[in-house]
Amino acid sequence: MDMLDKLQELEKEALKTVKKAKSYDELEQAESRYIGRNGILNSIMGEIGALPAEQRREVGKRANQIKKTISSLISQKAAEFSSSESSTAPAGERIDVTARLTSKPRGSIHPISQVQAEMEQIFLSMGFDIVDGPHIESEFYNFEALNIPEDHPAREHQDTFWLTCGLLLRTHTSSVQVRTYKTSTPPFAVVIPGRIFRYEAVDASHENTFNQIEGFIVDTDISVANLIAVLKRVVREIFKKDIKVRLRPGYFPFVEPGYEMDFECLLCRGKGCSVCSRTGWVEFLGCGMIHPNVLKFGNIDPEKYTGFAFGLGLDRLTMMLYKIDDIRIFQGCDLRNLRQFSSPSLL
Ligand code: DAH
Repeated sequence: MDMLDKLQELEKEALKTVKKAKSYDELEQAESRYIGRNGILNSIMGEIGALPAEQRREVGKRANQIKKTISSLISQKAAEFSSSESSTAPAGERIDVTARLTSKPRGSIHPISQVQAEMEQIFLSMGFDIVDGPHIESEFYNFEALNIPEDHPAREHQDTFWLTCGLLLRTHTSSVQVRTYKTSTPPFAVVIPGRIFRYEAVDASHENTFNQIEGFIVDTDISVANLIAVLKRVVREIFKKDIKVRLRPGYFPFVEPGYEMDFECLLCRGKGCSVCSRTGWVEFLGCGMIHPNVLKFGNIDPEKYTGFAFGLGLDRLTMMLYKIDDIRIFQGCDLRNLRQFSSPSLL
């Protein structure tokens, strides 16, 4: 079969297909199949170089003609489709009911941000204000003002990223306590969510960058009973059911007395599993009555006012809520992990 015959065949087949097309989609397919860049017409024309020079002109001319005929039939059909649509669409509007829906990838809110937003709502509903503080902090607010002087062993528990000029990356959100005390007059109730940094080796349960929520209430006559009532309510609201909690003594230089609060392990319901190291309990937060020295650093009279403070780890909480067993996914930037946490309620 010579090239002219091939072109003839192509024209016949293409016109038949276009005439039969019932949608824009089919028209598009026919267009690209027959006269598109990688279509049959172009592939036939690829052989033109092998022809004697005098035939080339004729074949070229014929190919152009065929392309025009096919494409004008396609336009004609498309116009027919659009006029039959416009009889049902409002005047001036054209709806392509055959258009393919392209599913665009949809972003989602990071699980830590989701849990942080939920916690903020809980605290707001209880009358707390939300306050922010700097990531780069002075030694004073991160340690000294919290009753942790230079030679205090508690500094060793929190391995610090030191910067120059006595500055550091804050090792906890407690650093915002005295900043807030200095600029507020009691009574006040404040939470500070935010990122913190520790010079730690990273593994499945340790990160060098993670997130906390610090909280405190200062007023006259604040007691441990208030502390327990507030924290129990927070636990109930975030887990959306009653969960057993327990308070045990814990040492933090900035509170006296100090406690650690645990909640019943949700994975084994208190029976003991690998996540809770067979204890049935998961550490939730540190808390206590604000140390008088700390109130003094914030220019608040400890004879007149008392308060409680607490600090909780958001990463650990998020891991429990979503049953995640490796903290590294939070900063791992693997979209396959993060895409699992779609967040319709917050979008
Ligand atoms: N800042 C402590 C930490 O990062 C957590 C903490 C414990 C905060 C007791 C408090 C508290 O306010 O009272 O480990």
